[in-house]
Amino acid sequence: MWGRTPSLRARETVHMVDSLKRPDVEELRPGIKRPAQDTILTPRFYTTDFEEMAKMDISANEEELQAILEEFRTDYNRHHFVRNDDFQQSWDHIDGETRQLFMEFLERSCTAEFSGFLLYKELSRKLKGKSPVLAECFLLMSRDEARHAGFLNKAMADFGLQLDLGFLTESKSYTFFKPKFIFYATYLSEKIGYWRYITIFRHLEAHPEHRIYPIFKFFENWCQDENRHGDFFDAIMKSQPQFLNDWQARLWSRFFLLSVFATMYLNDIQRSGFYASLGLNARDYDIHVIRKTNETAGRVFPLVLNVDHPKFFALMDESAAANLKISEIGRSGAPKAVQILQKLPHIAKIAGNMLRLYLMKPIDTACLEGSVR
Ligand SMILES: [Fe+2]
Ligand SMILES: [Fe+2]
Repeated sequence: MWGRTPSLRARETVHMVDSLKRPDVEELRPGIKRPAQDTILTPRFYTTDFEEMAKMDISANEEELQAILEEFRTDYNRHHFVRNDDFQQSWDHIDGETRQLFMEFLERSCTAEFSGFLLYKELSRKLKGKSPVLAECFLLMSRDEARHAGFLNKAMADFGLQLDLGFLTESKSYTFFKPKFIFYATYLSEKIGYWRYITIFRHLEAHPEHRIYPIFKFFENWCQDENRHGDFFDAIMKSQPQFLNDWQARLWSRFFLLSVFATMYLNDIQRSGFYASLGLNARDYDIHVIRKTNETAGRVFPLVLNVDHPKFFALMDESAAANLKISEIGRSGAPKAVQILQKLPHIAKIAGNMLRLYLMKPIDTACLEGSVR
């Protein structure tokens, strides 16, 4: 069964700090947090057509994939994820809303990392003996993601509550994507993950007074794992030019770029207090991460979004404001039916804006040759 590797089971130790429990945290059992409810904006778990992936002929880019496999084998971060003395203290001083937002950040990150672990682990299992290079790459990437998820889960324990990753494996619903879409989605989530981690790291390097918790010191080497994972998906897609060079690829690249960017933007603006606690402006941070990820994606996608269009972030801002209204209504305590009616105009606003963003003329990456590619 997925996720029941010994290394992860060992991390599921129960930690409980009674004084830190908040009444609004739902526990599965003492010290173990019930996973956050699935919404359109929470991290997803994926599954795919393993047969189709096993049949893929990667010979068009095998050399690059082999080189990436060698890098994975080197395992640069073998000794990186070790909890040092910096963690050995009480974190009670991080309290109130900051604590809640921080826990949420850890949970979302842990869930996202763990979802990568599950998918890569299952892919390595299903491709074993059929597509050896890919199978080993997936295995070594699942190793990295297990480390990341485990490290975050231990950080959650510092705040009194962990996730039961075994329970998460069984209780989450899985979204099916054909291999092509798995590649678009995982490529983007790895690259955006890289830019998110490195941007926080660089900011805190310049402003150590905002480093409220030691985990951020680990982000520099950590994000290099994500960067390598992203490069792996870049190389796979290049081995399958049919995934990149038809009109469908153009439509789907736009779709995935927009959904990854909008999900992050709406989520982060809703949690701007967390970024503020690190001395970051959530909006500026997201704009930077989106610009960088979009630029990076131009190395493989046939097009990227025109994030410099004067309406691009204006439409994102309106959508983020509508999303805030939706969550306010959700907290209002009004009857469900009333809430649905109240939410409708805001949902329609977001949907309309997303459509406008999707239809905005993209930038062909062929014309970027020599600049960001
Ligand atoms: Fe990761
Ligand atoms: Fe990754």
